[in-house]
Amino acid sequence: MLDFQTTVRSRQSIRSYLPKTISDTDLQEILIDAQSAPSACNTQPWEVHIVSGDTLKRISQAMLSAFEKGEFNADVPFDQNLFGGKYEQRWREQYKFVFDSFGVIREDKEGRSRLTLKNFEFYGAPHACFLFMPKVADSVAVANDIGMYAQNFLLSLTARGFGGIPMLTLGMFAKQVKEILGVPDDMQLLYGISFGYPDWDAQPNKEHLGRIPVSESVTIHR
Ligand SMILES: Cc1cc2nc3c(=O)[nH]c(=O)nc-3n(C[C@H](O)[C@H](O)[C@H](O)COP(=O)(O)O)c2cc1C
Repeated sequence: MLDFQTTVRSRQSIRSYLPKTISDTDLQEILIDAQSAPSACNTQPWEVHIVSGDTLKRISQAMLSAFEKGEFNADVPFDQNLFGGKYEQRWREQYKFVFDSFGVIREDKEGRSRLTLKNFEFYGAPHACFLFMPKVADSVAVANDIGMYAQNFLLSLTARGFGGIPMLTLGMFAKQVKEILGVPDDMQLLYGISFGYPDWDAQPNKEHLGRIPVSESVTIHR
């Protein structure tokens, strides 16, 4: 098991996986780690579905077909175009980073579409974790608690030699995902996490996007 500093500083989004599944024993440990997340008043509002095998394939097919028809129906929509200024600069850099890591140039429209479709194929991961939340007031605090759960989940994967990626794209077709998983409509799909054994020989996993210096985000008052 990796130590804390190595775990937290080496975690990265994994966009290529080996066709090998994680054992039930390891999965149970990861879920116990994730379950230790803090939450407002200890409400633990995460409702989690771990999906593999044929069910994962069915969800992938449903998402690809809904994408083709343009049937977007996210419970919690996200639009990076609403982020201007320094945030826009960062998401644009991130897009370029991902395109470059897959060898896709900006002008290659078909290559960019293929890359988008990889999201709905879980980047080849054998497992996905879908994070649902109850609708409570404006849901911001609930979503925050689920973010804490998700980070524990991701760090546990990294510490144990696995890898994952949080994915808002997996929330774009909430209706289809809920139908397949039998999740009632009063639950909201926040996002998903694809996970498994990273393919470290794959180019997208060989680089890691950096961060701005701490001093640009943090003001220390004494
Ligand atoms: C809530 C959330 C949703 C994300 N959705 C996607 C996604 O749909 N597709 C994708 O390729 N990456 C997605 N990412 C990964 C981010 O692009 C990535 O975390 C960021 O660029 C920083 O890189 P790192 O995770 O490797 O440190 C998402 C990350 C978060 C936290």
